[in-house]
Amino acid sequence: MPIDIAQLQLQPNGTIALARQLYQLLHQQIMQGQLTYHERLPATRQLAATLNISRGVVVEAYDMLKLDAIVAGFGKGGTRVCVPSTQSPPPDQSKKSHATPPKIALSTRGQRIANSRNYPNRSQTREFPLTPSMPDFRLFPLKQWQRVAAMALNSSPKWYHRDGGLPLLKQQLCTFLAQYRGITNVQPQQVIITTGSQGAQSLLATLLCNSGDIALVESPCWTGTVSALKQAGLDIITSPLDNQGMQVPVNIRHKKQQPKIVITSAAIQFPTGITMTPARRQALVQATQAWQSWLIEDDYAAEYSYNHHPPPSILATSRAAHIIHIGTMSKLLMPALRMGWLVVPPALISPIVSAMNTLGLQASYLQQQQLGLFMQYGYLSTHLAHCRAVYNFRRKRACDYLQRYAKGYFSITDSISGMNISLRLDDRFSDLDSRQLSEHFKQHELGISVYRFQDCQHLLLGHTLLDDASYAKELDSFIHAIKTLTA
Ligand SMILES: Cc1ncc(COP(=O)(O)O)c(C=O)c1O
Repeated sequence: MPIDIAQLQLQPNGTIALARQLYQLLHQQIMQGQLTYHERLPATRQLAATLNISRGVVVEAYDMLKLDAIVAGFGKGGTRVCVPSTQSPPPDQSKKSHATPPKIALSTRGQRIANSRNYPNRSQTREFPLTPSMPDFRLFPLKQWQRVAAMALNSSPKWYHRDGGLPLLKQQLCTFLAQYRGITNVQPQQVIITTGSQGAQSLLATLLCNSGDIALVESPCWTGTVSALKQAGLDIITSPLDNQGMQVPVNIRHKKQQPKIVITSAAIQFPTGITMTPARRQALVQATQAWQSWLIEDDYAAEYSYNHHPPPSILATSRAAHIIHIGTMSKLLMPALRMGWLVVPPALISPIVSAMNTLGLQASYLQQQQLGLFMQYGYLSTHLAHCRAVYNFRRKRACDYLQRYAKGYFSITDSISGMNISLRLDDRFSDLDSRQLSEHFKQHELGISVYRFQDCQHLLLGHTLLDDASYAKELDSFIHAIKTLTA
């Protein structure tokens, strides 16, 4: 079906640039199946003339679609759709359908799992430069990654591998954990490769707890943690944070109230960026021991510390047998790898590996081997050193800019580690609730997060993607969005 020109209603005086408006409308039509797989888009000149806009606007909109890999250029064959639609095409009114839709009845467990997600089931097709916790893919050492690709293909197992991860990667992660996280005395068998931190947390919640057990998390915390716990049917209780980290509840006395699992991002708490103090860690380790709970640390971006030693991991400071450590490559390399790891006490190795084999949850062996080689050749360390320097520079520059041009709207509660800047909004915004604020920033397409902490609204901005060319423009858009809140 050709493009529906009548639906391409552009607003020349709107706040969104014409090219973006056109991109969004085309994107929508493609995803709705209006344009089918491999169908040709109109020539840019022709569409520009039909819509009475400049050809440059159409070219820019097509380029955005190309960046999303939704369309591709085929030389003389023109620009064509290269994804299947995600929705069925608009119904053909001329034909009557007699087909009755199949009845879908999920099990109670299935419903719980499906409803636990906190994200829309849509892939993010565009990156917003202020999105928190995103590594800058432009810094990715592509050449080095490609250099080890062929080696990985030759040396990786071609059949099934059932040991919870490849030996090379496990070994490399042990070295990495000792060097960057101070975690020593871990045997490679204790490292289990997972599909990211989310995969690790879901697996642990499912394996270690019964439905109806209690899980204790920080408030606020990462939504991925909440979904992982909800899908396992856990009752979630929260503990507030203060400037020392998670407050350890002292009023849990009865066995029935004791959490089975406690999850913290102690090194760099998400979203606040707070590092848990040694005294708090000790109190938490002792309390979880007394409750006979598992203490799980999600050590998700702690390698990014800029002008002091990395905030310590709990596992580095305590060898207690109920501590489980989780790490991820999502922030060091990129989320698309879907690669993370668990460090578990010896008694848990066998049950977890069995469960992963039963559920078919192994991360790609080929990519594990590639990552193992990448680390063995020292490419990850070099990349991390480079990213640290770049992100630190971008962080400082963004803070200076915000302080210079938006003073009075917020204070920066910056920690000197991590990938984000936290802003505590001025009291005049305290009447707005988090949903209103989120909606406002969503409309401005900024990608920032909103959270409430210590009775104040906070915003979380990523600084890692703010390169020389874009930082002023992106921060100006953000400042404009803040100012319109008070208008
Ligand atoms: C606290 C926290 N943990 C872990 C992750 C990464 O999860 P994954 O490894 O599943 O990509 C994130 C991502 O933003 C996060 O905020």
